[in-house]
Amino acid sequence: MKDKRVLLIVGGGVAAYKALLLTRLLRKAGIAVRPILTKAGAEFVTPLSLAALAEDKVYQELFSLTDEHEMGHIELSRSADLIVVAPATADLIAKAAGGFAGDLASTTLLATDKPVLMAPAMNVRMWLHPATQRNIATLKADGVSFVGPDEGAMACGEFGPGRLVEPEEIFAAIVAMLEGPAARPLQGKRALVTAGPTFEPIDPVRGITNRSSGKQGFAIAEALAKLGAEVTLIAGPVAQPTPVGVKRVDVETARQMLAASQAALPSDVGVFVAAVADWRVDEAFGTKLKKEKGGPPALTFVENPDILATLSASGPRRPKLVIGFAAETDHVEEHARAKLARKGCDWIIANDVTEPGVMGGGENAVLLITQDGTERWDRAAKDQVAGQIAARIAKALG
Ligand code: CTP
Repeated sequence: MKDKRVLLIVGGGVAAYKALLLTRLLRKAGIAVRPILTKAGAEFVTPLSLAALAEDKVYQELFSLTDEHEMGHIELSRSADLIVVAPATADLIAKAAGGFAGDLASTTLLATDKPVLMAPAMNVRMWLHPATQRNIATLKADGVSFVGPDEGAMACGEFGPGRLVEPEEIFAAIVAMLEGPAARPLQGKRALVTAGPTFEPIDPVRGITNRSSGKQGFAIAEALAKLGAEVTLIAGPVAQPTPVGVKRVDVETARQMLAASQAALPSDVGVFVAAVADWRVDEAFGTKLKKEKGGPPALTFVENPDILATLSASGPRRPKLVIGFAAETDHVEEHARAKLARKGCDWIIANDVTEPGVMGGGENAVLLITQDGTERWDRAAKDQVAGQIAARIAKALG
């Protein structure tokens, strides 16, 4: 990304502060940022903040003698690899759709021959208004790309679609556009990933769970999304941030995880990383168990559904590629290969959880077990392992 350049048009809206955060993310990645600040944008963020973070001059006027002397507005519109509008207000969107050129931002959008990415931000009514929707459709037909808007509580006190997406998501969309389709071999493919432990209640305050941190599953979801896949991540109770661009479904029990996995079908690939509790208490108690004179209660357990095996055997709805994980403490390869056959999946990624730093830690040393053989991968950080797995999936689905 080091030699890439973005022309960032900052429109007027409360969300303009996110353009400052976006500028920081871009600069940190080595991407050059040249900002254009609209008149309305300057009501919300100052040219000084933007210039300091961008480490470049801020352009504001269409008819500025000094700016025109240094770099004409036509040249400005073509000086970057990508034009980003964030926040893209209803006004800027309307101007671009209508081909207006009354100020520097709209002139730039009309004069450019570079790809354009817009991140809309406006009041929910303005977003839903037929005029805005018509303008969006026009711009999409003209080849403009969009990221967002999000849905949620707004600065104006209303709730609904129209919120600017987070800077990290705009950043990811920018990187994807700058890298081009070759870097996104999983574009158009759907992926399902389970991650984390499950929690099986005993009573309203107690339960059975395990030490899985969810790190490896979350890293795989992130790596698949980076390659362009549409990822649904079904997560047990973990304290991991949701990876950018990933749809997350939070569950607690194995049965909920199974239902959410089935609801996420059809999918091209299923990666079952979750450390699912094998058993649950036959019937969880509705009230808290108290210490009794007779001693601790006797709990009876029943087996949980096997999510991986169930989805492997789901007939026409089965993902083309089903991948299981095997956390083993001994005879790793032998046990994992038996699991491959027993669960009916295509690959097993096995690891030895007695190795320090694997369960709950940041590293993993895995074996990739397929019908064709076994590969032993070097010990590496979990996100590196995730990148390798995602690349292999892309190759297999290619
Ligand atoms: N798995 C699952 N549902 C379960 C149990 C396991 O989907 N109820 C999946 C895990 O996500 C993992 C694989 O099956 O991908 C293997 O999990 P593991 O706990 O190692 O296997 P078990 O079936 O528990 O086998 P064993 O007890 O013999 O180790």
